[in-house]
Amino acid sequence: MQEMLKVAMPKGRIYKQASKLFRDAGLAIPEDADDSRKLIIPVPKAGMEFIMAKPVDVPTYVEYGVADIGVVGKDVLMEENRDVYELLDLGIARCRMSVIGLPGGRPAIHPRVATKYPRVASQYFREQGQQVEVIKLNGSIELAPLIGLADRIVDMVETGTTIRENGLEEQEIIFHITSRLIANRVSYRMKNDAIQSLCDRLQPMIGAAAGNR
Ligand code: PRP
Repeated sequence: MQEMLKVAMPKGRIYKQASKLFRDAGLAIPEDADDSRKLIIPVPKAGMEFIMAKPVDVPTYVEYGVADIGVVGKDVLMEENRDVYELLDLGIARCRMSVIGLPGGRPAIHPRVATKYPRVASQYFREQGQQVEVIKLNGSIELAPLIGLADRIVDMVETGTTIRENGLEEQEIIFHITSRLIANRVSYRMKNDAIQSLCDRLQPMIGAAAGNR
């Protein structure tokens, strides 16, 4: 009998797509696990237990080994920089990390950039040789250029609706984002059969999921 896998699943928009991919791979995964307030969900038929996490915390649970594996966006992986294995690009929840600003905005003498991703933003502007002050916000980032807190923002763009509705423009794509399957380093060795067999089941489904996103 294969060992039970503890899986850190992101609540919210990624959950629906991730659980569909797992189901397509033949695993008996509940569709509505994130509709309830329950945080630990046994999925015995799939040999798993879901830990319903805030997306940004998934790599933390996996690094500390309280979850063996997890599903997480590349944006969070880049920002959190945790010591985990990245096993698979699941090809779901596609979006991008971009620099966004007001159209026709002139370069500021002391430019400020607002973002939920201070590490990603600092690294990007450092690589561009631009000195900027990075201001960390926790949401509604698009407000910052509108009310004069920052000249530009670094944020996720999915459909582009938020920037359009706020009269902003996407100026640079920093990187493309999809969700990844990650693993704890020790679990990857100790529960290798279970993790490998999950990867083998998911792999053929990945392109198919990308086709109907
Ligand atoms: C994210 C992101 C953008 C928006 C992009 O925000 O920060 O604001 O989605 O999606 P779109 O291109 O499809 O409009 P989220 O909904 O996570 O809320 P937040 O403002 O609290 O970060």
